[in-house]
Amino acid sequence: MLQRPRRNRKSAVIRDMIQETRLDASNLIFPLFIVEGKNQKTEVSSMPGIYRYSIDNLLREVESCLALGLKSFDLFPNIEEALKDKYATESYRSGNLYTRAIEEVKKNFPEACVVTDVAMDPYSSDGHDGIVESGRILNDETLDVLGKMALAHAQAGADIIAPSDMMDGRIGYIRNILDKNGFTEVSLMSYTAKYASAFYGPFRDALGSAPKHGDKKTYQMNPANSREALIEAQLDAEEGADFLMVKPGLPYLDIIKLLADNFDLPIAAYNVSGEYAMLKAAAQNGWLDEERSIMETLLSFRRAGATAILTYHSKEVLEKGWLK
Ligand code: PBG
Repeated sequence: MLQRPRRNRKSAVIRDMIQETRLDASNLIFPLFIVEGKNQKTEVSSMPGIYRYSIDNLLREVESCLALGLKSFDLFPNIEEALKDKYATESYRSGNLYTRAIEEVKKNFPEACVVTDVAMDPYSSDGHDGIVESGRILNDETLDVLGKMALAHAQAGADIIAPSDMMDGRIGYIRNILDKNGFTEVSLMSYTAKYASAFYGPFRDALGSAPKHGDKKTYQMNPANSREALIEAQLDAEEGADFLMVKPGLPYLDIIKLLADNFDLPIAAYNVSGEYAMLKAAAQNGWLDEERSIMETLLSFRRAGATAILTYHSKEVLEKGWLK
């Protein structure tokens, strides 16, 4: 035998030497849930180890992450039912929970990179990412709300704005509004290929943002499709996106690879709430080795071609010393 691939696996030194991809703290973005009030920290029942924080506790959490070398955060708001309406007007009201959280984090920790989520669902009385009329999700009317929301985030100090709504044309629309208002430096991380997935369940529990009726299939993508992701990516690139995101992560590694092979923009992968819940549940039952299954999952995103990984595991992998 001339070729014996096992020779390159014979020692830890050689295995390390030829390792093609690595995971680093700089790849990680930590999603954090925020809630109104003082000294609040309540665990999300379907996401053990993940909490909703009031702003005071959010600042403590960000501080402890920064000390571990974790520097990027994506914020998501849990909004009281009473503040929700059909047009998500709370989402761009000055002084709302979300913009206060962005301001406080940036004021206390200017070195932190704050990613913000633009979509109507946490603020919508319909629980949808767009304006609902007679059971239909209106596209162009929704852009107006998304533009106002994105501007409010930029004014509060967001570093990267991540539209997660899947309306057509929103990247160009938001880019234009940001530029006109002098926010040319604020980046856009587009949820480019966001699929209508069952894996968002625990996130919707965390925010109380599940659709009150219907599903998201007229705007989020069909899990059966990959070529359609190329159309979305082409549009986002032309409209001025700085990052292309694929979501969920693990069931869509082929899509991450497809976009990485076809576009020169950095690729982000969202390792979503249901993926987190799956590994935690198996680990708690003793069915999987927690450290190894989590690290293998995160490394698979790097191998597929993602440089940024949004994951609820971000803090624990650093805290537990799994990222050597
Ligand atoms: C809302 C949004 C969702 C997630 C991020 N932004 C849920 C949805 O589209 O219903 C999911 C994140 C996760 O599951 O971790 N636009």
